[in-house]
Amino acid sequence: MENNLFDFGMIGLGTMGRNLLLNMADHGFKVIGFDTDPGKAKLLETSATPGTRVKGMNTLAEMVQQLQPPRKIMMLVPAGKPVDDVIRSLLPLVSPGDIIIDGGNSHYTDTLRRVNEVREKGFHFMGIGISGGEHGARTGPSIMPGGDIQAYEQVKPILEAVSAKVNGSACVAHLGKGAAGHYVKMVHNGIEYAIMQLISETYQLLHSGKGLSNDALHKVYKSWNEGELQSYLVEITRDIFMQPDDKTPGRLVDRILDKAGAKGTGKWTSQDSMDLGIPVPVIDIAVSLRDLSAVKEERVQASALYKSATHEIEVPNEVFINQLADALYFSMIVCYAQGLALLYKASSELKMDIPLPEVVRIWRGGCIIRSAMLDLFYKAFTENPKLPNLLLDKQVAGILQARKHHMVSVILHATQTGFPVAALMNSLCYLEAYRSEFLPTNLIQAQRDYFGAHTYQRVDMPGIFHTDWGSYDN
Ligand code: 6PG
Repeated sequence: MENNLFDFGMIGLGTMGRNLLLNMADHGFKVIGFDTDPGKAKLLETSATPGTRVKGMNTLAEMVQQLQPPRKIMMLVPAGKPVDDVIRSLLPLVSPGDIIIDGGNSHYTDTLRRVNEVREKGFHFMGIGISGGEHGARTGPSIMPGGDIQAYEQVKPILEAVSAKVNGSACVAHLGKGAAGHYVKMVHNGIEYAIMQLISETYQLLHSGKGLSNDALHKVYKSWNEGELQSYLVEITRDIFMQPDDKTPGRLVDRILDKAGAKGTGKWTSQDSMDLGIPVPVIDIAVSLRDLSAVKEERVQASALYKSATHEIEVPNEVFINQLADALYFSMIVCYAQGLALLYKASSELKMDIPLPEVVRIWRGGCIIRSAMLDLFYKAFTENPKLPNLLLDKQVAGILQARKHHMVSVILHATQTGFPVAALMNSLCYLEAYRSEFLPTNLIQAQRDYFGAHTYQRVDMPGIFHTDWGSYDN
């Protein structure tokens, strides 16, 4: 017999929490949400599809009481202290076997700590990465759960129902042990930062270097989005150039201050990559350039000091746009390769057992970094799930080789005309270094041994060596 209890509870009815809950309701689940703000609880109810079971509460205890045991409760609150605060107020209200889920962008080390703290008290705790923004939450996000497999089995039907679908397959999968879900989401965001930086560099070259109007830019990104560059981030870029400003004549993009914010997930990816010794330079540079964008006042001073006017890129538009498309495709592949190489290492090093083919599969729909090229990567990782770096895949290698000359041309044009294309450059340099059988690191080893007796290995015999280096000043 049908009871009046709810299938799923949400703590935090901001944009993501509300829309995800409404998505669940649209799939036939009875849902209840809690927020201290009465307006948000009300908005949840008024935005529900007629005929669905949706309730908004302002008292946590009342929400918890109305959930079907074992209770499934997700929190979507800002990362950090708010998550710990919610857990603290929730624990006295739940029963053994209940499942608490953190669906926000928490740092994976916090998630690991919370998994242990909550498990000790007899409850389940899972960290789940959710990507797709407001629209994705409502219509189908990509969902990255990890950790407690028993808890996952219980929430799986709900997550599968609400997630994005690609060729009928749900963009959700159990992505490994411990805090794997949040780890994968962190790397997803690092890749997100890198692709956004790359696209912004192509925009600067087309806009300032080639003088393309917003209408013309719209056409370029539209055509790119209809080919191999098809991706969510290229798609929204296409639209952005057409958005009118509602305050002044013209397009909104031209009125937006060139100072970027960041909530930290890109930085965490870089920090963690350094801890694990896996280079992700395109992500690093994307993080750094957001920071550089933020020092606008200094940039204004420096622009007066270094008066080197940027010049027009003197290559026919059609030729340059074609070269740039190849350069962007090349670099985007490199971004994914770096992020996935980090996941490969983290999987074993942090004992998470992350299934890379599944990661790539669920990124194909719903999330911010979804793109057509993920089909290619899915094939590569399905054929070889233990691929340490996507760049070792033969098909990927062929694609990069075929586009490299355009990558080089774009960088030459950009540097000759004075445009900073750090992410594009980094993509090329990463590949050039990665494919180098010989790197000049023998010299670095010699220097280390010279000044610090740090020792070195030789190419011609095994062992560890140290030399008393001489001075040869004459
Ligand atoms: C997503 C996004 C999202 C992220 C924002 C903000 O997958 O839906 O990654 O989770 O929080 O993109 O990130 P920044 O404010 O750091 O740019």
